[in-house]
Amino acid sequence: SSPLTIAIDGPSGSGKSSVSKAVARELGLGYLDTGAMYRAVAWHCLDQEVDLTDQEAVAQAARDLPLEISTDPDDQTLRVGGTDITSAIRETRVTSQVSTVATNLDVRAELRRRQREIISEARDERGGIVAEGRDITTVVAPDAEHRILVTASEEARLARRSTELHGGADADQVEATRDQIVRRDRQDSTVSAFMEAADGVVTLDTSELDFDQVVAAVLALVRGEV
Ligand code: C5P
Repeated sequence: SSPLTIAIDGPSGSGKSSVSKAVARELGLGYLDTGAMYRAVAWHCLDQEVDLTDQEAVAQAARDLPLEISTDPDDQTLRVGGTDITSAIRETRVTSQVSTVATNLDVRAELRRRQREIISEARDERGGIVAEGRDITTVVAPDAEHRILVTASEEARLARRSTELHGGADADQVEATRDQIVRRDRQDSTVSAFMEAADGVVTLDTSELDFDQVVAAVLALVRGEV
């Protein structure tokens, strides 16, 4: 069959990463977490003490970054020049700074170029890929065979993130998480309007769905059952 790109966008806490990974496994496709690439640039700048407000220095760091990212849905190891940063990019200091890096247009141009390369390689070598992020349906792969925007109410996203981060609901932690999500969404939406579907992009509201139901809904869309 001909190669397949499934582009999935959505805000943090929408569950798009785990869903995308499950869909990729089910269809035997590659998987690309583009957010991890922005996180890798942010991690590197923090590690190398690159001044995040110095646009040109950050852009240069992105262009020079020896980033190795796997498109195997079962191996999401991320390396920078041999150093395994898979868990380091999930640390709070990275999460709280990543939007600053992502608003740098030269960083976006560089990562977009790499993402298109990775997608094209996966189409040749794996039969296709599920690529997820904030601007995949609109900018990185607007010509993807399937384009889906995964949304969820703020309450649903907060509940998912809290469980993910601290396995439950301590009131203070939930509040801190709420602040983080709201702040990151606000910052991120200045670069890409990922809260609303562009023309031709299917919206999937997952507020009332559990994980398996979301995966099933995406698969049904891809298989043309809906
Ligand atoms: O998906 P995740 O929350 O890991 O993404 C981390 C950050 O990377 C986002 O908050 C956003 O700033 C940036 N991002 C982006 N464009 C993408 C994917 C992620 O700007 N396609």
